[in-house]
Formats: sequence, structure tokens, C-alpha cells
Amino acid sequence: MHKITVVGQGECEFEDQFTLLECLDEAGFDMPYSCRGGNCGACEVRLLSGKVENIQDTVYETDEAHILTCSVIPISDIKIELI
Ligand code: FES
Repeated sequence: MHKITVVGQGECEFEDQFTLLECLDEAGFDMPYSCRGGNCGACEVRLLSGKVENIQDTVYETDEAHILTCSVIPISDIKIELI
């Protein structure tokens, strides 16, 4: 179980959800997304601290230090910020 902090919005716990986006959705955060498949970039956020692991191949390339919430899971406590 890892703590997810969304700057300016609050915190939630990642347990065994399939993706970080699913976890944030379930916790009631108003997260942007569209394809959920790593193609569109709509779910891109800045990773301020912590580590994530990719769980699917993505077409969309993020900036360095940015992640696609639909395509990763946290492997430590993380802090993210909407961009
Ligand atoms: S929702 Fe499209 S890349 Fe994540």
C-alpha cells in the first residue's frame, strides 16, 4: 500500500488497483484522461517524488519527470501534480 499525494487536492492510498488512474478515480479525484491506453497524453501529470512502474507500452511520450496515470502503478509513496 502506497500513499498518493495530489498537490492541492489531497491524498489517497494505492492498494491493488490496476492503474494509478483507476486508484485516483476511485478516490474521487477529478483527474483528466481520455484513452486510458497510453496514446493521448490527457492523463499526463508531473511526478514530484517517488517511483512508478510502467504497466503497459505507451505511444505518447511524456516530458521527463512526467508520467501517464493510465499507464503506471506506484512502487513507493508518490507525490504528483496536475499540469
Ligand atoms: S488517458 Fe490517454 S494516455 Fe492516459
